Amino acid sequence: MKYRLVVRRVKATGGRRFDVFEVEAEPDESVLDVVERVSLQGDRTLTFEHACHHGVCGACGMVINGVERLACITRIGEVARGGVVVVEPLRGFRVVSDLAVDKSRMFGKYRLVTPTTLEKLDSRLDRVEFEKLYDCTECGICYSACPIANTFKDYLGPSLLAIVSRSAEGRVPAVIDSRAGVWACHAAFECSVRCPVDFKPGESIMRLRRRLLKGEVEVEG
Ligand code: SF4
Ligand code: FES
Repeated sequence: MKYRLVVRRVKATGGRRFDVFEVEAEPDESVLDVVERVSLQGDRTLTFEHACHHGVCGACGMVINGVERLACITRIGEVARGGVVVVEPLRGFRVVSDLAVDKSRMFGKYRLVTPTTLEKLDSRLDRVEFEKLYDCTECGICYSACPIANTFKDYLGPSLLAIVSRSAEGRVPAVIDSRAGVWACHAAFECSVRCPVDFKPGESIMRLRRRLLKGEVEVEG
């Protein structure tokens, strides 16, 4: 079947345009496979990220026909509208080139979750919750889907707050209990709806808020 792949090309220099590629693909092929084929046969300058190709590494997040998804586990036949698929870089991050974004606003805040805190989890969480914690692929889809992360650059963000919520041993850094932390969330729950591994950041943020309000969590500093 013929599809029309429309790629929003964004360059760090400020240039942006939509390029259209006509591609032959089976409906159950992944969007990532099709993007890759275009990059090999159509335009070798097309920039995008990928690694595992099976929904584990979190590298291939992009906005596909308006919705954040992991391109490697998204079948083109399921998302195409009238044979057209528009792919764009994730929102809320600086675009490096085309579909590749700089996720340092997310990774840069991970120092708030110390390894010591994570190690303590084993004894405290039940097995299901423990496994869910490590299911976060750090794909950044929750930042892209979140209306606050998109418009408030200092917001710590859904995945980070979710990890802190699950790992807080009765104490959190002051920044978590601040305007950039749990109180910035407007409870849109778009993060939970879009998260490809059902990590449910929105619910975790609300749980941490409740614990702070009840005085069950101490704020450091
Ligand atoms: S919480 Fe979900 S959407 Fe956010 S980074 Fe982790 S896996 Fe991705
Ligand atoms: S390439 Fe690893 S999650 Fe898509």
